[in-house]
Order: sequence, then C-alpha cells, then structure tokens
Amino acid sequence: MQGSLSGKAGPRYRHTADESAPYETIAVDKLTPIIGAEISGIDLARPLSNRQQDEVHRALAENLVIFFRDQHITPEQHLAFGRMFGDLHVHPAAPSEPGKPELMIIHADKDSPRANGEGWHTDVSCDLEPPMGSILYIRKCPPKGGDTLFASMYAAYESLSDRMKTYLEGLTAIHDGESVYRGLYKNYGIADKPRYPRAEHPVVRTHPVTRKKALYVNRGFTRTLVGVPRDEGDAILSYLYQHMENPLFQCRFRWQENSIAFWDNRCVQHRAMWDYWPHTRSGNRVTVAGDKPF
Ligand code: SIN
Repeated sequence: MQGSLSGKAGPRYRHTADESAPYETIAVDKLTPIIGAEISGIDLARPLSNRQQDEVHRALAENLVIFFRDQHITPEQHLAFGRMFGDLHVHPAAPSEPGKPELMIIHADKDSPRANGEGWHTDVSCDLEPPMGSILYIRKCPPKGGDTLFASMYAAYESLSDRMKTYLEGLTAIHDGESVYRGLYKNYGIADKPRYPRAEHPVVRTHPVTRKKALYVNRGFTRTLVGVPRDEGDAILSYLYQHMENPLFQCRFRWQENSIAFWDNRCVQHRAMWDYWPHTRSGNRVTVAGDKPF
C-alpha cells in the first residue's frame, strides 16, 4: 500500500493549492485538487481573445491537464489552437494526416495490433527538446472505455523522501526512441527511419513557467541512469515508476465525442486505456514544441 506511509497523520502527499484568482472569460472545474480541470464557456472554433488565451495558459499551468467538451473544430483550427502555445512538433515516427505532418493520427479499431500510449509515458521524451504539451481531439469514441489517465509529476516529486530527493539531485537519465519506435508503425505501412532520437535529461526537471520541480523519468522512454551501476539505476527507476503511479497523483478523463485534452508534458505523464476492443476510438493530436529540460 502506498499513500499513507509517512508515519504522520494524513496522507504522505499533502497538496497545498496555490491561491488562484477568479477567471473572467472561462469556467474552470477541477477534477481533483491535484490534477485536471474541465474548462467551459469557450468555443475553440472561434478566435480567442488575448484574455481568453491568457486564462487558458493559466488554467493549464494551475491544473497540468485541461479538458474541453463539445468542441467542433476543423484540422486547421486544431493546428491554430496549438500554435497559440508555440511552434508545432512533428512526431519522429507516428502517422499523420496527409499533407499535415503536425496532425498526428490517434486511432485504434478491431484490426489494430495496438493502441497509442498504452503504458505510462511522457510524449517523445527521447527528443533533445521534448514537446511542451499535447492537444488530443477525440472525434469518435467507443460506447464505453478508452479513458486516459494523467499523473502529476510535481506531486510524485514532492512526495519523495528528502533522502531520495538528495539522491536524485543532479542525476540524469537516457531516454531512447530507438527501442520504442523501430517497427512500431509497420501496420500503417510506415517505413522505419534510419535512426530515432535519444537524449540525456535531468531526472528532476524544473518547469520553466511555474519553476516547480517535477520527476522526469518514464517507463516508456527512460532506459538508464547515467553514472550509477546498471543494477542500482534499474532499482531506482523501478522504485520511481512504482511511486509515480500512485493513484493519489492521478485523474482519469472519460472521453465523449468531440472532447479535447491538453496536457503539459513537462509535469504530467499519461496512459491510454485500450479496454474497448473491438470498438473504434479515433482522433488527432497536435503537439506543441518544447525546450531542453533543466
Ligand atoms: C497519446 O499518448 O498521445 C495517446 C493518448 C490517448 O489516446 O488517450
């Protein structure tokens, strides 16, 4: 059992929410005190005012992942929404819509050998400059299932013991795309690239906007800790993965058709549930470029 092993009264992780001023142009309904909020009162098919844009930025920073329901946007509007937050990222391996390399296809049906994002991960953390955020628009949903789980890596970091925080200080890890992407999209008829990205990143990163520290290793891409014996690194990573998967740090989004999830990859991991076979779940992801973790 995890979560209340602090030896003190109350849970091991005690979230103290930042003082939040009221929003003026959107409504923000938190899913949990720790992560996730549903945003309403905004139509992403219409141009957003500067004030709306600022408030969406703020809602993302305060809630880590934000959700919009009942949105009817074209691919161009989806791309334009992404561009409000930065340049767009092109996935190193995944299929995209014809003529739109920044519009990644997220699709699983009865003939799929796998679905995207089935294990806990941070998007493309193997890039030297991994994506800042991902904006997933699901148009077709199964009758039940296909939820996505999100976990706060701030909470995962903050709830580590002081001894573990000291141990992790200054450590880096190798994130490898080769072992993930080679052959992965064969069923889409996509030929492999000669090579896939690989990068070394700090195990604990500082969010460039909130300045908070977040754990930045994930089962999907992280392979080894640098400068420690392999068996020790494997044991530490295994502990960190188990720790960060504590449901206390999570929210779970139940999709409806025409919903959008926008998550901040700098402080969030996510995992998609493929529990709806043989039904179809389909949409597109626009990914916003990021910078080198520090
Ligand atoms: C992904 O990892 O981007 C896919 C998430 C999802 O399909 O819910």
